[in-house]
Amino acid sequence: MARTATSVQDRGEIAGDWDRGGSGLSAEATEFADAVLCGLGRRPRSIPSRFLYDDTGSALFEDITRLEEYYPTRTEMALLRTHGPEIAFCAGPVETLVEFGSGSSRKTGLLIEALRNLRTYIPIDVSESFLTDAAARLQRDHAKLTVRPMVGDFTKARDLNGIGAERPLGFFSGSTIGNLTHDEAVAFLDNAARLLGSGSAFLIGVDLEKSLDILIPAYDDARGVTAAFSLNLLSRINRELGGDFDTGRFAHRALYNGRAGRIEIYLESLADQTVEVLGERFDFANGERIHTENSHKYSIGGFQSLARRAGWLPMRVWTDKDNLFSLHLLRRP
Ligand code: AVJ
Repeated sequence: MARTATSVQDRGEIAGDWDRGGSGLSAEATEFADAVLCGLGRRPRSIPSRFLYDDTGSALFEDITRLEEYYPTRTEMALLRTHGPEIAFCAGPVETLVEFGSGSSRKTGLLIEALRNLRTYIPIDVSESFLTDAAARLQRDHAKLTVRPMVGDFTKARDLNGIGAERPLGFFSGSTIGNLTHDEAVAFLDNAARLLGSGSAFLIGVDLEKSLDILIPAYDDARGVTAAFSLNLLSRINRELGGDFDTGRFAHRALYNGRAGRIEIYLESLADQTVEVLGERFDFANGERIHTENSHKYSIGGFQSLARRAGWLPMRVWTDKDNLFSLHLLRRP
């Protein structure tokens, strides 16, 4: 299928020195292969979290969002439902909605309902199949809306492909911004400002700091759905890169790093073992870990000062009564 966006195709990747000439891997598989071989080769070992989201991973994440322990999705949905009209009022007469990492169309639908002047919806996502599905669903529910999906890495997209974005509102939901370090988040917000233009508004879902009694089970649920989501990364390596990980000999670990203010997710080796990926051998000591994800938690003020560092002005913030989650409306002067 033809790509919708041509200007965001060059997805710069952690360059690998691994020579796989003639390996017959597709560009996407090569990118994954480079990230895995580099990531397993360095210390501490780490693989970028975006590789968790293949089709199986995305389906498992969807299951996570419906878990009792996982409060972010339902809390953010309730905030959008309750405060939608007020958010729309504060954002002004928005005509274009630009969604970064177009998450679940359930949330987007709620926002679209509230934005009475909306004409164009631009979802940006790396997953083309995901974009096509979400775009089709929203188009069906909102016949008069012009949907213009853009395939690409939303942290790197430089412009909106010449689509004139009139009175744009950016939307970045689910606390996906929590995957980024503070410096990466500032760089992302700065890039988003360039994309949306001055005078634009940005609505961002941000998970809040809270007691570990709530936080840890949200990332290590009783039914093991989150563990399955993490371990799928190893199955994906086995499927796509001919790896021989024994997923029964690795365990999902979710820890809170208080100094960094984030949940850190690891896959931990349960034995001394050697694993092969694309002909490379990797020795794991019992207890050795691969870092697979960060999920930063913010205070309201902490996120607002981060936004200011990137040149955005905090306008309003909405939270639930238990202070689990926040929706920030920012304005670009
Ligand atoms: C998609 C990054 C928002 O950090 O809560 C949930 C990812 N990983 N459980 C989060 C995730 C394991 C999620 N984000």
